[in-house]
Amino acid sequence: MLKGYRADILHFTADPDSVDEVESSYQHIEDGLLLIEDGKVVSVSAFSESAIPAGVDVTHYPDSLIAPGFIDCHIHYPQTEMIAAYGEQLLEWLETYTFPTETQFKDKAYARGIADRFLDELLRAGTTTALVFGTVHKESVDAFFEACEVKNLRMICGKVMMDRNAPEQLTDTADSSYEDSKALIEKWHDKGRARYAITPRFAPTSTREQLGKAGQLLAEHPGVYMHTHLSENQNEVAWVKDLFPECKHYLDTYDQAGLLGRRSVFAHCIHLEDDEWQRLGETQSNIAFCPTSNLFLGSGLFDLRRAAKENVEVGMGTDVGAGTSFSMLQTLNEAYKIMQLRGEKLSPFKSFYQATMGSARALDLHDLIGNFEAGKEADFVVLDKRCTPLMDFRMQQCKSLFEELFVFAMLGDDRAIAATYSAGECVHQRT
Ligand code: GUN
Ligand code: FE
Repeated sequence: MLKGYRADILHFTADPDSVDEVESSYQHIEDGLLLIEDGKVVSVSAFSESAIPAGVDVTHYPDSLIAPGFIDCHIHYPQTEMIAAYGEQLLEWLETYTFPTETQFKDKAYARGIADRFLDELLRAGTTTALVFGTVHKESVDAFFEACEVKNLRMICGKVMMDRNAPEQLTDTADSSYEDSKALIEKWHDKGRARYAITPRFAPTSTREQLGKAGQLLAEHPGVYMHTHLSENQNEVAWVKDLFPECKHYLDTYDQAGLLGRRSVFAHCIHLEDDEWQRLGETQSNIAFCPTSNLFLGSGLFDLRRAAKENVEVGMGTDVGAGTSFSMLQTLNEAYKIMQLRGEKLSPFKSFYQATMGSARALDLHDLIGNFEAGKEADFVVLDKRCTPLMDFRMQQCKSLFEELFVFAMLGDDRAIAATYSAGECVHQRT
């Protein structure tokens, strides 16, 4: 059935930094009409009574902006309950808070309860797609994808592979991780809107043998993703050098196992050497930039400009529970501040591109989601310009789309998300 949504509409067709005139990177319609049928975009046009096909029901969102659903390129669903854990940097934070929390996900019913809560938080924040870490337990992935099926969400997830340097209840073996991951790929990859990511946690918690098994899985299952962490923290980088003396650098631990490529996503990438940047670029590997996490754990300031120079696609990640918000708007807020600390600017056009089409590209999902081209999956958010007294007051001073987007990114959070739609169905309505 054809359905219509009326509000301002914004979506990106190109990277604002890759075109001569920024206006050619997006389509913005003041008082637009988005038409949806069978969960897909039919058209975007200016609203007028005569633009409405006969018999079509139109939902009007006044003082609002409709944009593609946000895409989170790196997040851990089992860490929902330990967001905001005090005082530590990466390695101590993992030992003190993360590992104890993750042991609970052997219990599938427990995992499902957290998965449901996690999805509610994501959708409340306007995020419709995410690349998600489970735990070492295969039950954690079953529970997650079963929860996603109910809401028909486009999600990517995988079981953590971890065979050393972690508590015993949280470790698998090279062989068992291979078998469990393989079974999960067969069960979930491309089932409905689900996709699978082979997920070695990070080099310190995998033996060389296990990374090799991850590479074997990737080679045996074209189209499946690879998701891990890279060069987040200086002590972590030093530890990897000790553990893998035969490797040139941190990235080489993954490279030697065949883990780089178009569907590989590396979270953080803060302390990279020149050669690592170059290898990421030449293998078309992708980076998840996680500003709230990088500041919270004191990890460092990501170099977004360098990524562009090296032709590495970057998507935005919250990295909850090291990240401090599910909100992509809050994530863009802190991305802006990281750029400020580097003496650089992050324009709101670039921000909103990064959170939608840029992240879709980093996840190789840009043929399916990320903007409102006809035929794309109808995942979208309704952003409310009047959501708080301060937002309302500040928006009244705005004279351009540029300013409005910047205000959304600086002042916005889940309160700005009036509604979230997945495949044309409303999956969150702000109360
Ligand atoms: N590196 C290895 N595991 C993790 C994790 O759970 N969170 C973050 N931020 N970094 C990691
Ligand atoms: Fe992470």
